[in-house]
Amino acid sequence: MAEPATLERVRSRPWFYEFDLPDGTRTRTTLPEGVEKIHTTRLEMMERALDACVGKDCSALTAVDLACHQGWFALHLARRNFKSILAVDARAEHLADAQLMADVLGVRTMKPLQLDIEDARAGEIGVHDVTLMLGLLYHLENPVRVLRLARAVTRRMMVIETQVVPHLSGIVDWGSWRFQRPMMGNFGIIDETEETHASEASVHGICLAPSIETLEWLLRRVGFRRVERLQPPPDGYEQLVAQKRVMFVAHVD
Ligand SMILES: C[S@@+](CC[C@H](N)C(=O)[O-])C[C@H]1O[C@@H](n2cnc3c(N)ncnc32)[C@H](O)[C@@H]1O
Repeated sequence: MAEPATLERVRSRPWFYEFDLPDGTRTRTTLPEGVEKIHTTRLEMMERALDACVGKDCSALTAVDLACHQGWFALHLARRNFKSILAVDARAEHLADAQLMADVLGVRTMKPLQLDIEDARAGEIGVHDVTLMLGLLYHLENPVRVLRLARAVTRRMMVIETQVVPHLSGIVDWGSWRFQRPMMGNFGIIDETEETHASEASVHGICLAPSIETLEWLLRRVGFRRVERLQPPPDGYEQLVAQKRVMFVAHVD
């Protein structure tokens, strides 16, 4: 059990997530009322996928959470007894919070690692049975490079979730009207260059968000053999229900 003073320090400030604390209380979230459901809906979808793919006892498996923020999803993974959980984020303050929360919850299997995923090499992360990549892709200027990196660090499965944009398709001239190609997908460019100080934002500012079809196509293209789209519960967070965000499980085999 955490020291009472540490618990008090954790309880007295707001967090991005509602963490259940060992004394039965819960952290206050910075999110407006109703928006915290974005976390619980994604957690429910992720848990369902893990139940189906790896089961509840993951003591023989390792995991990595790419863009772990304060470690809420990584610490939920810890409940399945993963052998180790690597919690990666670009922001040192998130990793400090994730470590503080791991200490409070008595989790010793989670290890923080500060990396800008846009620059990272697979060797810095290692290979893990389960990869999480939630809420990250649409904050990146090199989403395809990062999807390749995600494939390289995944041994079994990745759960990926992202904001998406409307899909565009069609046939385009390619060098000449004689040579035509089908468009496989598209990205929307969103400007976060004035918000790179914000804790949940991109660290570089130029953000490319894919359409659902684009992401599904890319996941196969970078080497995931099977790609499964996860359905949100009917009463889940509005963005997932309205298909403005999407979650996939991408299987290596
Ligand atoms: C919207 S939050 C999502 C956090 C968490 N995965 C979730 O789904 O709740 C985006 C996270 O990505 C991190 N991030 C943004 N760009 C990054 C990058 N290039 N490398 C590593 N982390 C990054 C941010 O610091 C933040 O923790």
